[in-house]
Amino acid sequence: MDPSVTLATLRRMKTEQSPIVALTAYDYSFARLVDAAGVDVVLVGDSLGMVMQGHASTVPVTLADMAYHTRCVARGLSRAYLMVDLPFLSDTDDRAALESAARLMKEGGADMVKIEAHAAQAPVVEALSRAGVPVCAHFGLRPQRVGQLGGYRIQGRNEDGARQVLEDARALEAAGADVLLVECLSAAVTARVHEQTTLPLIGIGAGVDCDGQILVLQDMLGVTQGRPPRFVHDFLADTGSVQAAVEAYVEAVRNREFPRPEHSFE
Ligand code: KIV
Repeated sequence: MDPSVTLATLRRMKTEQSPIVALTAYDYSFARLVDAAGVDVVLVGDSLGMVMQGHASTVPVTLADMAYHTRCVARGLSRAYLMVDLPFLSDTDDRAALESAARLMKEGGADMVKIEAHAAQAPVVEALSRAGVPVCAHFGLRPQRVGQLGGYRIQGRNEDGARQVLEDARALEAAGADVLLVECLSAAVTARVHEQTTLPLIGIGAGVDCDGQILVLQDMLGVTQGRPPRFVHDFLADTGSVQAAVEAYVEAVRNREFPRPEHSFE
């Protein structure tokens, strides 16, 4: 069996310019399948609120929901690195974030927590890092803030927005984040983040200039209802079986055939 993926593996992959393949999963069966297909990072995303629970956003997802799905996924993994979201309002200060991370790691088996953050939340990232919690900082579009944003919008499209994103990247890296994840960013701004960071940078809807890519499993299998976002490709339609679809996604990311320019935003 291949050795388990660790944070050191992700750092090495960045150095060697070997693309990191990430995908969400929320249960044991799919965790096994994506692990066997060679996915490097499995995210138990709070997107489970939408694709598993049928909510209109990720806001209603609780820490108990995340802990439950994390336990299910952890049982299915033998190689992949397990990243788990801190859900909405579970990370409002150092203490809350530490307690939430403790639950996801000790009870759930998470290897790393992901926090939706901008520069102002850098102190919380710092507290997690100081306590020994591996942290992925998720910025650009932060879906937990959809209420404030007034919808899911591409970030960093004007100079002020771009400056804010670059400042977020700098502050979160300085605070001790181990991995950065950018969502729905103009491709040009992603390229600027990639240029300035030393951390593995994973993108979704953020263009090609990343060290890795992630999608929501249901999106890349074409089972999410409604019109898919521009950055999604339906791999099941190309292949005809779930296993072959996940394998095709892994290969496409590894070979830099996904995303293509048409999946990016200007
Ligand atoms: O919750 C999630 O699935 C995510 C991905 C969209 C990156 O945060």
